[in-house]
Amino acid sequence: MENNHRGIILNYKKYLPVSDKTPIVTLREGNTPLISAPVLSAFCGKNVKVYLKYEGLNPTGSFKDRGMTMAISKAKEEGAGAVICASTGNTSASAAAYSARAGIKCIVVIPQGAIALGKLAQAMIHGAKVVAVQGNFDDALRIVCELSEKYKICLVNSINPYRIEGQKTAAFEICDDLGAPPHYHILPVGNAGNITAYWKGYKEYYAHGKTAYLPHMFGFQAKGSCPIVKGKPVKNPHTIATAIKIGNPASWQKAVEARDESGGIISAVSDSEILAAYKVLAAREGVFAEPASAASVAGLLKLAKEGFFKTHKTKEMKETVVVCTLTGHGLKDPEIVIKNIKYPPIVPAKIEAVMKAARM
Ligand code: F0G
Repeated sequence: MENNHRGIILNYKKYLPVSDKTPIVTLREGNTPLISAPVLSAFCGKNVKVYLKYEGLNPTGSFKDRGMTMAISKAKEEGAGAVICASTGNTSASAAAYSARAGIKCIVVIPQGAIALGKLAQAMIHGAKVVAVQGNFDDALRIVCELSEKYKICLVNSINPYRIEGQKTAAFEICDDLGAPPHYHILPVGNAGNITAYWKGYKEYYAHGKTAYLPHMFGFQAKGSCPIVKGKPVKNPHTIATAIKIGNPASWQKAVEARDESGGIISAVSDSEILAAYKVLAAREGVFAEPASAASVAGLLKLAKEGFFKTHKTKEMKETVVVCTLTGHGLKDPEIVIKNIKYPPIVPAKIEAVMKAARM
């Protein structure tokens, strides 16, 4: 079988802590498309080129697969019998799938009633032991951290350094695709592992002489759960973007470092800004991403409105290149669409009625 893409571990082995002894557990994650976004680019102004790193096209529909192929391969190498994670949904879907593949038991702890239906379905069908706690993600994370220590179960949240190692490969792919890093990289921030991972990836490529400069890292949290922006934990976080409904991120400090070292920002967008970006992405660019992913585009649109890209011209290129990561697939959370978009009209099964309803 001829296929150059062998999953992120074999693609980027040189940059990852694996050896020939590591049993590679892969679903051929990574190699996701970097899609140009003409409508968003035009919105940002002349000579701005926006790309979408569509991570929803990973095997379980989110960027988590990059980290999970590493975490589960290393867990298998170390002989772990079980793995555990807390999750707002995507981590659990990914952990469940890769554990199933590896033949390792998987336990996931989720906040009750706060994860999207698609993600819950994934964790369950892949055979994970799913436990919902009467609390939020931060409670779930505290519990799995304690359990993993007490029972020596391998923790596969992004506190696990192998997760970050795997996720940094998205930055490599972007540099490989563009032939250079973007000037600005925008992504949603929840538990703050991904911004940490991208920044690590960009820095490593730069250190290896693969790139000549570093991007500015821009992270966006949801307004109702923006502890990094506020500078203190949020006790009862809220947002429609359940994936990033997190009040006390595990990689808080690393995210602040990414922001400060790169000359970036971490800011917040409201739920209505997230929803507006979610709709623009789907209806104008043809890309369906989940609400948390749209937080990056909401941030982009906010910056554009403030005239950011007009006042921040770059020296490196004639064009300003911006990449927004779309972290998860829109199909993960169909309920959000149903709640926010009008239902289709129901008409008699007659050609005239359909024509009239479709305004043909
Ligand atoms: N976007 C999506 C779709 C996510 O699922 C997450 C995190 C993020 C963004 C934020 O990334 O946490 O690295 O800052 N989801 C985790 C989970 C928390 O449990 O699935 P982060």
